[in-house]
Amino acid sequence: MNAHWLDAELEGADTTPERRSKFRKKKLLGRRKLDDLTAADPDAGPDGIADDTIRRLIDAGHITEIVAELKSGKEATAYVARGPRGSVLVKLYREMEARSFKNDAVYHEGNVILDERAARAIRNRSQKGLDMLQANWVSAEYAHLWTLWRAGLNVPEPLVGPNVKACAETVPAVLMRLIGTEDKVAPRLSEARLTPIEAQSAWQQSVQGLADLLRLGYAHGDYSTYNLLWWENTVIIIDFPQLTTRQNPNFQDLLRRDAQSLATSFRKHGVQTDGEVTLREVQRLARGKGPEPRIVLP
Ligand SMILES: Nc1ncnc2c1ncn2[C@@H]1O[C@H](COP(=O)(O)OP(=O)(O)OP(=O)(O)O)[C@@H](O)[C@H]1O
Ligand SMILES: [Mg+2]
Repeated sequence: MNAHWLDAELEGADTTPERRSKFRKKKLLGRRKLDDLTAADPDAGPDGIADDTIRRLIDAGHITEIVAELKSGKEATAYVARGPRGSVLVKLYREMEARSFKNDAVYHEGNVILDERAARAIRNRSQKGLDMLQANWVSAEYAHLWTLWRAGLNVPEPLVGPNVKACAETVPAVLMRLIGTEDKVAPRLSEARLTPIEAQSAWQQSVQGLADLLRLGYAHGDYSTYNLLWWENTVIIIDFPQLTTRQNPNFQDLLRRDAQSLATSFRKHGVQTDGEVTLREVQRLARGKGPEPRIVLP
């Protein structure tokens, strides 16, 4: 979620042990059946909150089974699951601690919290405040997925909502359609092997994706090949909790950084261009026509 990777990228850290171990973690860690998660043994799962949440998702009928843990990051763990409408990606946020919020303000400046008590709890970083912030990230991710999915962008289909109450039921998890298959989950563009023709197509789609976001008035906030999936020659944008609007006073900086991150992260695919050129191309494309909106029936 955070853009720390950019510093590492600029230092050519792609081959560091941390990066290599991140790759290893990406492998499916094996099947965890419903039985494991409903077992009485409290040590059966990765941790209590994860198991409680997963059990709650199963009880509410959102999923029937966890197939595998896909990736465990700093802020969230991604699980491959099965649900009534097919394969599901469960993004389960970790419990929030004050230190996770170092860079939070830059994205949320310009957002107004009208409830003064809520604002105080968040400012004080009380447990209640942290819970509210976590719920806020989840509902923001659902809201953004719904907006972008409806607008016709290539993002995973959200599988809960758009009703806000329904979305709140799955906190601290976000459920969306799995990109790829259970056996072969879509790789991120950062780790995909592309031919030069594929790299050109992926680049154009990624620039277009940033332009489509801009046309709607958004900057992604962490736009790079680490948050772009590659599946059936199509780029799919993921990871939206920090999406920001033009109301944010940092909007231009965030947009510029997105263009810069995109350009830098594409160098390993042989695309050589800089952030400013990319930004101008994004701005030019944003004036053009957007994708066809999707009709979402109630
Ligand atoms: N819909 C999806 N289909 C397939 N894989 C997905 C999907 N959404 C996320 N992933 C995988 O899960 C990982 C984590 O998702 P995401 O980027 O949203 O979370 P994050 O908090 O930024 O985690 P990280 O810091 O590890 O990137 C992604 O890098 C991607 O590999
Ligand atoms: Mg991410």
